[in-house]
Amino acid sequence: MLILGIESSCDETGIALYDTNFDGKNGILADALNSQIKLHAEYGGVVPELASRDHIKFISPLVQKVFADSKKNLNDVDLIAYTTGPGLAGALLVGSTYAESLGIALQKPVLPLHHLEGHLLSPLLSGDLSFPFIALLVSGGHTQIVRVNEVGDYTLLGESIDDAAGEAFDKTAKLLGLEYPGGAKLSKLADDFAGKFSENKFKLPRPMLNSGDFNFSFSGLKTAVLNQVNKAKILDDEFKQQIAYEFQEAIVEVLCKKVTAAMRQENIKNLVIAGGVGANLRLRREFNKLAETKNFRVLYPPLEFCTDNGVMIAFAAALKVKRFGESIFKKAGSFDVKPRCSLF
Ligand code: KG4
Ligand code: ZN
Repeated sequence: MLILGIESSCDETGIALYDTNFDGKNGILADALNSQIKLHAEYGGVVPELASRDHIKFISPLVQKVFADSKKNLNDVDLIAYTTGPGLAGALLVGSTYAESLGIALQKPVLPLHHLEGHLLSPLLSGDLSFPFIALLVSGGHTQIVRVNEVGDYTLLGESIDDAAGEAFDKTAKLLGLEYPGGAKLSKLADDFAGKFSENKFKLPRPMLNSGDFNFSFSGLKTAVLNQVNKAKILDDEFKQQIAYEFQEAIVEVLCKKVTAAMRQENIKNLVIAGGVGANLRLRREFNKLAETKNFRVLYPPLEFCTDNGVMIAFAAALKVKRFGESIFKKAGSFDVKPRCSLF
């Protein structure tokens, strides 16, 4: 079965073609992405109206590109999967209208999907993992620990009560004068610090480290950075690196502790890390170390599929069809989007 995947929930237009005759990454016939990072950078954050317009501009050329790259054509498609929410209403509408219209024109079924389900299942692109497993979902909008019982069967164990980890990375980066979205740039600064100075002048809090549950709170961490920024006269490179390093250490420590506690409680030895912050190399290094000492397995999506992309949507659709069959297909023609919706 050939699945066309369409992602347009925020600031990336992602399109992919996935062939269910293959497993994992091998099923990706083509993928194309347009990131709007440069477009929004001068405003310091995503401007919804600009995001929608850019999705409209790029969606059709990107769809044409995946067909050209894979040497397939529209009539070969068996299913059109797209992100229905959560996300920006206007941005979601571009993807859903395109997908549903294509479904009507081609008389092909559609499958609306939850954006987080795409992230959650994307590590399985890297290899097989037996169910149940624990998933740490760390994106720009969400930080959640999830028990994945099966494809389509998820239990939320804990989540951030305020800022998500990615959001905290981006806001802290902004405080240090880094360009939006600064998560990856802040992480690069932190990684450059390692071993450079004999001691770090700054100690930041580890919020909710010992709260006894699986919830997180990262907004206080950002405020602690703000206090240091206000105290400092000039934000020189040494200051920025030391803060970035300590900030990243604090986030990684809290995420690692809560996730290992959740694995212990659920008695589960398989873990996946998904979402944009899953691209963080320090986080990956720490989880790899833990996996060795605590004897569990950890899987990540391929680096390029950590942040938003069309492949994760096409792939999640493939896994759902494998589990539930064609009964989950929908007849094209409904233009509904769900800017706020829960997976649980
Ligand atoms: O999953 P994603 O593309 O968007 C949402 O669905 O929210 O994640 C984007 C987030 C941004 O906050 C970005 O700064 C963060 O992921 N991010 C990183 C890294 N790469 C992306 N955060 C920390 N370290 C990175 N290397
Ligand atoms: Zn995302």
